[in-house]
Amino acid sequence: MAREKSVFACRECGGETPRWQGQCPHCQAWNTLVEFRTQGTKPSRQGHAGLALAPAAAIRHLADVEAESWQRWPSGLAEFDRVLGGGFVPGSVVLLGGDPGIGKSTLLLQALAYMGETCPVLYVTGEESAEQVAERARRLQLSRAALALLAETRLESILEVVARHAPQLVVIDSIQTLYSDALEAAPGSVSQVRECAARLTRMAKAGGPVVVLVGHVTKEGTLAGPRVLEHMVDTVLYFEGDGSSSYRLVRAIKNRFGAVNELGVFGMTESGLREVSNPSALFLSRHANPVPGSCTTVTLEGSRPLAVEIQALLDDSASGIPRRLTVGLEQNRLALLLAVLHRHGGISCGSQDVFVNAVAGVRIAEPAADLAILLALVSSLRNRPLPSDWVVFGEVGLAGEVRPVQRGQERLREAAKLGFGVALMPRANAPRQAPEGIRVLPVERVEEAIQSWREGS
Ligand code: TYD
Ligand code: MG
Repeated sequence: MAREKSVFACRECGGETPRWQGQCPHCQAWNTLVEFRTQGTKPSRQGHAGLALAPAAAIRHLADVEAESWQRWPSGLAEFDRVLGGGFVPGSVVLLGGDPGIGKSTLLLQALAYMGETCPVLYVTGEESAEQVAERARRLQLSRAALALLAETRLESILEVVARHAPQLVVIDSIQTLYSDALEAAPGSVSQVRECAARLTRMAKAGGPVVVLVGHVTKEGTLAGPRVLEHMVDTVLYFEGDGSSSYRLVRAIKNRFGAVNELGVFGMTESGLREVSNPSALFLSRHANPVPGSCTTVTLEGSRPLAVEIQALLDDSASGIPRRLTVGLEQNRLALLLAVLHRHGGISCGSQDVFVNAVAGVRIAEPAADLAILLALVSSLRNRPLPSDWVVFGEVGLAGEVRPVQRGQERLREAAKLGFGVALMPRANAPRQAPEGIRVLPVERVEEAIQSWREGS
């Protein structure tokens, strides 16, 4: 019998510490550590499917291992497949996290209805009754005949049903409602969530079905968030979207079978989630007339170039300490750009409140948007719009240089495809021959970029 050991895990980030502390040493959140005992998981390991008795694996040389190209099961939603890396991979475990009410159950129900047509699938609901799920499926006009449903929260019963019916895909909605007999802790506690996820993962890896775990992001309270499971699963997807808009983004945070930062875009409608196959159109607010403080850039979301409008607003500061606020962009990056603008562009915003926003709730983490932010700032300060058919990208360095960005050609092609007429971009990225319909203005320095705009508009 293993010695009972107490470990403390953070509800927010899943990090572990041997001792209780007020603050999580991993993510610095306060009062998020909860105790769980590791000994309780021992009997279940042996108890489940006799895995502990499986013969030890033999050493193989990498050269002898066939590099397989993964078989993929399409979900019926191309945007969802994109974030998965091309569809579900047999034997994999996918975690779908997101705020309550964002659309996780809706998305998975739609995918299951499609996949159920060709292979056996199982939807395990611990949150809603079978009637509620049936009602939703009816409202979504899904073919209900193919959907096998199990309203159950006891892990052992679920494993038994799966073993008996051998579905190829199992959705657990949600992992926070499950409990295992092996533990005394309450459903939703870190130890229950981990134990249930670990055993479902083992089942998937032992030739079982694809397992999709739904995890609610919890703000405060006693429920363990999906982050405590990220290290266990193959693919981590997060469902994002702000309450005010009907657009929903599914983002891959981790993917053993595909690229990370891949983005799927959906719109929530009366009849469920609809794919948005041309998301660039979404992140551009088409103004009837050009407006000051607006500049379009092309950012990369995973492998996909995406045109996004950056908006800046500068206003005389009423207080002694001017505000600097960003939405969807990094605050530090803005401070850096304001300093570059002052030193190298000779333009001071010291007495101004500065607000910068990436339109439609998109988040930009890469520096390629620098030059667009900079021009949006100048445009707002001077109250002079940039021409509406301009697109701008490039990283800005502290010396005032405009540095090349990754995959500049693809960004340029996306801009041309969307009908932009002029691309202000790093000289190092400029092609010999621009795509049809777009003119390239290559620049090396921020002064030059501002000058090009003066001359070009
Ligand atoms: P849901 O999938 O239940 O969210 P989650 O499983 O992530 O908690 O989505 C619920 C929300 O979506 C709810 O507020 C209503 C809305 N919705 C629609 O707008 N249209 C629809 O067709 C459906 C099914 C839901
Ligand atoms: Mg739900």
